[in-house]
Amino acid sequence: MTQTTFSPLCIIEKIDDGALAPDGFFDLAGLVADACLEIEGVSGAYVSITLVTGEEIRKINKETRSVDKETDVLSFPNVPYAPGKTARDSEKRLKKAYDPAYGRVFLGDIVLNTQRAKEQAEEYGHSFKRELGYLTSHAMFHLLGYDHMTDEDKAVMREMEKRAMKQLQLYRKEDETMTDEKLQSLAIEALEYSYSPYSNFRVGACLLSEDGRVFQGANFENASYGATICAERCAVSNALMAGARKFTKIAITTDNGYAWPCGICRQVLNEFKSGDMAVMVGGKNTPWKTKMLSELLPESFGPEDLDIQEV
Ligand code: THU
Repeated sequence: MTQTTFSPLCIIEKIDDGALAPDGFFDLAGLVADACLEIEGVSGAYVSITLVTGEEIRKINKETRSVDKETDVLSFPNVPYAPGKTARDSEKRLKKAYDPAYGRVFLGDIVLNTQRAKEQAEEYGHSFKRELGYLTSHAMFHLLGYDHMTDEDKAVMREMEKRAMKQLQLYRKEDETMTDEKLQSLAIEALEYSYSPYSNFRVGACLLSEDGRVFQGANFENASYGATICAERCAVSNALMAGARKFTKIAITTDNGYAWPCGICRQVLNEFKSGDMAVMVGGKNTPWKTKMLSELLPESFGPEDLDIQEV
């Protein structure tokens, strides 16, 4: 079955039934492809991605590269870049690879072994999604002219991949260690976005989601005072729109003293806690304190009381 996913910068052609792909893989691939193209400074391209088993990739590896070995990902660039050049400085060659059928430049094929990706994710202790995202970015940069034959080239390619992963907030276990200090400084940074002309009480927050992503928020007030939204709920809204729903920690700050979350925010945080949630309050010049949400909202009423098991 062939299916096509369009994203602003890149078209992904899906050439199999994707049985091994997790839900939303092709959306993820579109985002990864777009991020890689954006980082490289190229647009109007398309790639094809085929998802295969370990056995299949071994066959392809043998046929195309005479390597009789299973691997995680293979990429077959369509643009013959000059030595040392990548897509951004190969305009003429890109133009030659223009495919009128798509109205875009065909960058090449990616073959992804989703079985191996799953194993590697487990081995490294990060999400399947992160592993697939990383492998897709690795293959994308190959299609854009990058390689890792020398240490120097390898370092450049790794840097590009890292930028793509960072942009997409696809963290590895190691980088996932969002420290309390980092979360706190992101909350302090969010203060700058506070709209609080009535109270002059700025609040900044930063939420940490279960998958390692972070979401900032700031309070925004209204001439009709009751329409005010607190920093915590602003952060929750941001997170929900990025598909995050379970949070392990939040840092909340104000300019002076402590801003413990108000009752409404405690209730909203309670809805989306991952087991429990650590609530850190403090500030630039105020030592940070931590309490669990279960302490701040004891005997709470939550989704489980209405038989919602999974938020
Ligand atoms: N505020 C928050 O942002 N979070 C809280 O949990 C408490 C209160 C904001 C709302 C309003 O803009 C200002 O602080 C004063 O109430």
